[in-house]
Amino acid sequence: MPYYVTTPIYYVNAEPHLGHAYTTIAADVLARHMRQRGEDVFFLTGTDEHGEPVTRAAEALGITPRELGDRNVVHFRDLVTRVNATTDFFIRTTDPEHYAVVEEVVQRIQDNGHVYPGTYEGWYCPRCADFKSEAEVEDGDRCPIHKIKLDWEREDNYFFRLSAFQEPLERLYAEYPAFVRPENRHNEALAFIKQGLRDVSLSRARLRWGVPVPWDREQVIYVWIDALLNYYSALAYAREGEDLRPRFWPASVHLIGKDILKFHAVIWPAMLMAAGIEVPRQVFVHGFLLMGEHKMSKSLGNVIDPFQVIDLYGSDALRFYVLREVAFGGDGSVSPEGFETRYTTELANEYGNLASRTMAMVARYRDGAVPATTASAELTGDFDGLAERVIERFDAVDVSGALEEIWRRVRRLNQWVQETAPWQLAKEPGSDDQLDAVLYGLVEGLRVISILLHPFMPEATTRLLDAIGAEDRSIAAARFGDVERLGAVSGIAPLFPKVEREPAPAA
Ligand code: MSP
Repeated sequence: MPYYVTTPIYYVNAEPHLGHAYTTIAADVLARHMRQRGEDVFFLTGTDEHGEPVTRAAEALGITPRELGDRNVVHFRDLVTRVNATTDFFIRTTDPEHYAVVEEVVQRIQDNGHVYPGTYEGWYCPRCADFKSEAEVEDGDRCPIHKIKLDWEREDNYFFRLSAFQEPLERLYAEYPAFVRPENRHNEALAFIKQGLRDVSLSRARLRWGVPVPWDREQVIYVWIDALLNYYSALAYAREGEDLRPRFWPASVHLIGKDILKFHAVIWPAMLMAAGIEVPRQVFVHGFLLMGEHKMSKSLGNVIDPFQVIDLYGSDALRFYVLREVAFGGDGSVSPEGFETRYTTELANEYGNLASRTMAMVARYRDGAVPATTASAELTGDFDGLAERVIERFDAVDVSGALEEIWRRVRRLNQWVQETAPWQLAKEPGSDDQLDAVLYGLVEGLRVISILLHPFMPEATTRLLDAIGAEDRSIAAARFGDVERLGAVSGIAPLFPKVEREPAPAA
């Protein structure tokens, strides 16, 4: 089955922070999990380089928007590598091939009669690149998201007849309740649609930086229309000489943050309907990473630098932390202290020590050979249906829920060590079979857990699975029992060693 997952494309107006790394990490965990299930996966990320957010930042630096894009795209590409994301393509909206698809689709929307010239007058947030209705404006003239003073804009441009899609959108929501998830976001988007849709600008007259309107080169296409089309255009040219759209369109899931819900849940499906293109299967909306009570953002200056954390602790630890600390779909606070605590208690102690102790006991009591036996019914029972439950969580894009299911078994194994006290069994004559079963159960449990944890922590789990000689890392192999006979185990350096320095402080 084809599985196409995307992240938003990030504005290149500043360098990336943990909020950007978050979606890329979550999308990568989904992509890796789906590959374990044997699905045909395509994973897209990239950068959004047009519009005011980039133009204004470039102006402030005295450089062109293109120069700013070229400068910052390096950091966004680097972030993909550093968080160990297995993306299949990195799109830039400045790619000429993207321009071609945008022009073609916008022309189609026009040909289908959904565009007309008009005058826009109203509030505009240059940071959101969003036209704000009176109802959205805060304190008379402020952006509800960025808290900055809004611009009062008046210009003649082209409008997209969004209002004509009110009913088709309502039908879409009724027929596919999972189009937007979680449910509260579905309700929010639907309420927005039901309150009555107003047409939106499809082009900008004053801006020069963007994709030209095909029938009027004096204007550029509004940055959000251009940006949303990235999900579709990338498939047209990601592989030379091959159009991947028949294979991967419609997208399986667009992962987005809650601040860009309206664009993805309302404007995007309407645009696609207007162009006669199938709508994506799902938009999954996650919350914000907060520092204290505030959204982590460059403009607020309260960001955690993912590069620093990775330098000190490695990408596995960062990936684990953001998906463990915050329930995926809601908001949640993160902090250097919280990171440190989870690193020590969960990664180093609960998982890392479990691995080291198990390997050391197999080495000491059984010369490194995994006993060829079966585990106790009790332990086996605790792993019953685990892979299925993890798959179910992933199908609901509940990435943190999947992690919790797995982590409960990490804790179960630690408890098992305490309950069975293998070091006592080793001393008691006649307990050989029992010790065999305990050691086998521990290695087998570690094997299953590590396969399931692999999408979250690819490096550490690979080291562990290599050390126990487990070759099959597919989901099918994540069943506790006699799936794969393990032979000898080799020693292993601590998976999550003690780090002496403090984690990265908030900038
Ligand atoms: N360029 C647009 C998206 C276009 S997609 C067709 C954009 N870019 S952005 O760089 O401002 O934000 C990209 C994503 O990062 C958004 O989903 C946003 O929600 C997310 N985040 C930015 N800060 C965040 C947190 N503090 N926490 C979680 N996600 C955050 O919007």
